[in-house]
Amino acid sequence: MVRPLPEQVDTCIIGNGPSALILSYILHGHIPYYKGGHQDELLDSKLIGRRDLFDLSPDLYAHFQSSLRYSTQALPINTLLDTLLRPNADTEVNSTSLVEWKLEPRRAVSHVALGNAPHTGGQWVDNPVSASWEIGTLSYAEMLSLPGYSFAEHYSRRHGKQMADFQRPSRTEVADYYAAYPEAVGIESSIWTSTNVSSISRDGAKGFIVNVGSHALRCKHLVLATGIFSVVIPPPRFLAPVASLHNDRAPLLVIGSGFSAADVIISTSPRRRIIHIFHWDPENRPSPLKGCHRHAYPEYAGVYRQMKLSAIAATKGNLNGHAPAPGLRRKSSYFPGRDWENAYEGLPNAEVVDVKVDPDGDTAQVTIRQLDGATIIRTVGGLEYVVGRRAEMNYLSPSLQSEVVGSPGSTSTPGLISGKTLRSRAEEDLEIAPGVFIIGSLTGDSLVRHAFGGCVYAAGRIMGTMSKSAPPTPKLDGKVEADIRPNGIAHEDLHLDRRKMVQTR
Ligand SMILES: Cc1cc2nc3c(=O)[nH]c(=O)nc-3n(C[C@H](O)[C@H](O)[C@H](O)COP(=O)(O)OP(=O)(O)OC[C@H]3O[C@@H](n4cnc5c(N)ncnc54)[C@H](O)[C@@H]3O)c2cc1C
Ligand SMILES: *[C@@H]1O[C@H](CO)[C@@H](O)[C@H](O)[C@H]1NC(C)=O
Ligand SMILES: *[C@@H]1O[C@H](CO)[C@@H](O)[C@H](O)[C@H]1NC(C)=O
Repeated sequence: MVRPLPEQVDTCIIGNGPSALILSYILHGHIPYYKGGHQDELLDSKLIGRRDLFDLSPDLYAHFQSSLRYSTQALPINTLLDTLLRPNADTEVNSTSLVEWKLEPRRAVSHVALGNAPHTGGQWVDNPVSASWEIGTLSYAEMLSLPGYSFAEHYSRRHGKQMADFQRPSRTEVADYYAAYPEAVGIESSIWTSTNVSSISRDGAKGFIVNVGSHALRCKHLVLATGIFSVVIPPPRFLAPVASLHNDRAPLLVIGSGFSAADVIISTSPRRRIIHIFHWDPENRPSPLKGCHRHAYPEYAGVYRQMKLSAIAATKGNLNGHAPAPGLRRKSSYFPGRDWENAYEGLPNAEVVDVKVDPDGDTAQVTIRQLDGATIIRTVGGLEYVVGRRAEMNYLSPSLQSEVVGSPGSTSTPGLISGKTLRSRAEEDLEIAPGVFIIGSLTGDSLVRHAFGGCVYAAGRIMGTMSKSAPPTPKLDGKVEADIRPNGIAHEDLHLDRRKMVQTR
């Protein structure tokens, strides 16, 4: 850390991911105003007389519940800002924002954003599972853009030409965009990278003390933007010996049923055999891959198809579980490179029951109990255990942690939190304890496009424009919880093939 930290600021944001960057942009004095022209006439009429979007009262979105136009998965304030920033984004190609960010420096609030990632961008900065950096993101580029400097502008700056429509940029490109963002919009003086925060505690009634190494920083408002993805759930201890093998000439054991598992499979050499153990319960707990549109996300849809074929075969009593009719298999040749029939073995709801490392120390024999109770033994040269990511809030003092998270026993995985952990409290109010706000994926709305409402809300409160009695964020209906996937990515985006929109014009 080259620059010294200040002794005192109004607001301390913990994290340097997309949500921290949006909030910092606003706290610099960029105030969002409604420009007018939304196609929802009721919403337009409510906003037109009060264009300052800090004034986010519940009557603005009260009618969302009864309208098919709006998502019921995100918090209403996030749905609101999303539809103003990207009206008709799901049906229109070049949807233009109805929000104008006006710089009003007098309203700026002194703040810092402190993140432990070496660049700004939060979870985008690193790639803790062994997936390729070149895999396209789930979101189209415009859904990953931050205010004041869009992904498309960054693309033009980098490549000297305009970005094509419907870009799903690679992880590397998104990381590069978020790393460049602070300077591009002039907020870099408030942002610290490679800065790990620990033991935040209350400072009497005055605010908080934030410890960074031996430095103590005091602030009045605390905003937690630390996300839900910093901890990769580790394999159970008995699998650890397999996890430490790195023989890529022997088959790879992949355990997991979501995007990360698919990413690993896509990134593995097509010649390497994959033994894939996954959870299969399409009715009650479908894999998030299920929603992926075949044309928009061919690679994910392709992996899902192989999982499904394996599940069909397994329930039909085929003991090998991986050899459906050849014709069926061939149809799904999204990856001409991989010979699925020979290089992929899908084992739904199977379980590793024993592990023996071979004498050469290079491979292991794993005993797997299949769905039908029969056991098989497979030789493997490595393990990718990708069942999800969580976060810790051990950077808060024990008493602050219990104010924020509740007692340690209140989550299924003690100490680890997911998108569900704070969701019901986020629905009440994003100020989850006096002076403490949560934004970004911590709120349970993990997509970048759904970070804006929370950031505007927190900024409005911090800047003192919004009164305490103003909007809690009531849920639209009772099923919000159920719509949050175990890995925290709401995937309503994934059902769409946005390219169709131009094709059908
Ligand atoms: C593999 C993957 C793919 C995804 N793809 C998409 C996508 O295509 N589109 C989309 O919209 N969303 C996607 N997401 C969802 C993701 O939540 C958002 O993209 C976004 O990163 C959320 O931003 P955030 O600011 O809430 O938190 P994060 O980006 O998670 O950033 C939080 C940061 O805080 C840091 N931190 C934690 N504790 C401390 C501490 N004590 N001190 C300092 N720093 C700390 C963390 O290390 C992290 O760097 C994806 C998530 C994953 C895991
Ligand atoms: C969207 O806007 C870009 C840049 O102005 C333009 O090049 C592109 O053709 C537009 N696409 C459509 C489908 O209108
Ligand atoms: C960052 O701080 C947290 C909370 O004190 C701690 O658990 C973690 O190990 C630290 N990480 C690093 C890289 O120092």
